[in-house]
Amino acid sequence: METPEWINQAPGIWSTVVGKPEDLTPLKVAGATPRLAALREMGEGEFPLDPRTITTESVSSRTVIRIPLDSEEAIFGLGLQFLKVNHRGRTRYLRVNSDPRQDTGETHAPVPFYVSSRGYGVLVDTARIVTIYCGSCVRRDTPNPPALKDRGRDPDWEPTPTSDAVEIVVPGEGVEVFVFAGPTPLEVVRRYNLFCGGGVIPPRWGLGFWHRVSLQYNHEQVHAESMEYRNRDFPCDVIGLEPGWHSKSYPCSYEWAEDRFPDPPRFAEKMAAEGFHINLWEHAYVSPEAKIHAELEPLSGSHTVWGGLVPDYTLPEAREILKAQHEGTHLAAGVSGYKIDECDGSELTGCSWMFPAHATFPSGHDGEQMRQVYGLLLQKMTTEIFRKHDRRTWGLVRASNAGACSFPYVLYSDLYDHREFVRALCNSSFSGLLWTPEVRSAATAEEWVRRMQVVCFSPLAMLNAWSTSTMPWSFPDVEPIVRKYLKLRMRLMPYFYSAFARYYFEGVPPFRAMALEVPACDLDDQYMAGDSMLVAPMFAGETSREVCLPEGVWFDFETGKRFEGGGTIRVFPGLETMPVFVREGGLIPMMPPLPHAPRKGERVPLEVRHYGNAPGRLDLFDDDGETFAYQRGDYRWRTLEVTVDSGGTRTGTMSEVEEDRESSYGEIAWMFT
Ligand code: GAL
Repeated sequence: METPEWINQAPGIWSTVVGKPEDLTPLKVAGATPRLAALREMGEGEFPLDPRTITTESVSSRTVIRIPLDSEEAIFGLGLQFLKVNHRGRTRYLRVNSDPRQDTGETHAPVPFYVSSRGYGVLVDTARIVTIYCGSCVRRDTPNPPALKDRGRDPDWEPTPTSDAVEIVVPGEGVEVFVFAGPTPLEVVRRYNLFCGGGVIPPRWGLGFWHRVSLQYNHEQVHAESMEYRNRDFPCDVIGLEPGWHSKSYPCSYEWAEDRFPDPPRFAEKMAAEGFHINLWEHAYVSPEAKIHAELEPLSGSHTVWGGLVPDYTLPEAREILKAQHEGTHLAAGVSGYKIDECDGSELTGCSWMFPAHATFPSGHDGEQMRQVYGLLLQKMTTEIFRKHDRRTWGLVRASNAGACSFPYVLYSDLYDHREFVRALCNSSFSGLLWTPEVRSAATAEEWVRRMQVVCFSPLAMLNAWSTSTMPWSFPDVEPIVRKYLKLRMRLMPYFYSAFARYYFEGVPPFRAMALEVPACDLDDQYMAGDSMLVAPMFAGETSREVCLPEGVWFDFETGKRFEGGGTIRVFPGLETMPVFVREGGLIPMMPPLPHAPRKGERVPLEVRHYGNAPGRLDLFDDDGETFAYQRGDYRWRTLEVTVDSGGTRTGTMSEVEEDRESSYGEIAWMFT
């Protein structure tokens, strides 16, 4: 066993190279540049563990890293996990798989990065399937052996013995390991996100409502269905086309089906005139009928998926072929983004699809590695196409890995358990991931409402009606409630948009787990939205729920009712309300519930709500909302501030915009609660 040397890579971030790492890794694929200036602002931080206690060894072509744990330590993260928040005492098998049926750790985005409740993080940068024993295997030479118990007599006997270390097992000859300092779990996550390039800011329209139409719709049906949103007074910004827009899908041609979409640019233009952006579904497997098939054939792997080629997108030549085709056929027609489906693969008992781990690729990589990073490769490639045209995109992807936080993609799933969807929303925040608990169908109007309420407080608010043909008003009894939430989503755009700007500039996840607010809190059914809002979803069948409010004073977002924090309260909201609380001093900037997001240069009035008697401040982000100008320095922060004088009178101000700069915000009205 060896004790590695740790080399400082950035403020509060160290790494060590164990053995001989492979050339294909998630961080290398993602290729992000660390945001060093922002990391410097966070301060250096001390190496958060005793380096003498971290050991590495090579055992039968596996690299093993051992990191001690204390008895109370909780382990968060490891990607988009659906079944647990705290992984302490569990063994996690981090393989990309869309259909994990058990609590194994497999998921769409199994990021080999964990955050300890003690305020440090560990990342192993590998494209191999890692096993992480999160305090679930015990060495004979441990100084803290678990107490021996007798299953026949001790009622607290447990199948997993308590262990005092994490053991990370990477198949292969080596790996680079990173350690991130805190001191708090939120600061660990911030350092991780900033090291991976900082979070992403969506275009404003990405934060509007999304609707995906039925699989086989043609341009007229798409237009007619979209206009229903306008006619019924429901906001909507993005219409997603599902497989039927391709001339061939499963595998994909990437060419428009001429019978359904005879004139794509005209169709997109007509939709744009009504304020709709178009998002295209695709997967990576190339149909023999695709025009790019012949060119991609020599650049593809040994196996097919659904009869389609699996291009080796680690090769620049392969990437260029797809990029040119997409640019010419989709972007030129006015398409705004993609839903990149099925890059995860599935293994269910008796049903499976994906190229196998032993598949070979022209670059020399194998199927195991490619599958672990395929989602990242596709995100990066498609992001670059839009960047070339200085257009921001916002899309969906079904597989991801470490280093993805700067990609404009939100994860989704075919799984549909509502509690798991909320838990995934919490967990995504530990690993630089975004997640949408998309709505597709519901058994009852009540479930419909509860799902709609949650999705409107997530990184991407979407109704995915591809197979259900549902509309927001599909349950007429609750239509007004659903309209209220879709409008609330639109009204909160300035607040959410500024929360995303903090993700980019400071690495703070816009939607985040409670453990990032209160380190020992592993709740999985409530979360923070932006800095001031705490969201406590209701699930079908519930009439009340407990909400844990952190220290301080909190207010009900809608009624303004005051609550003392630092404990648990029980609330009894009706169906028309999902409990949302705002911390004292919190500022919530809102805009009118427009049918779609304001376009570049369009100005909206603001209503700013302030809660309680404490002074407050919020940095409101403003830019053109559509291009990368903000990355070239063209953006502004407007300071919203509320002061309270000795008589308790509150006054709100907004800082002026510099003379040569434009403002997206017009008149401002203050509301004091
Ligand atoms: C699934 C995907 C669905 C839908 C469908 C179309 O894999 O998760 O949202 O797009 O494919 O075939």
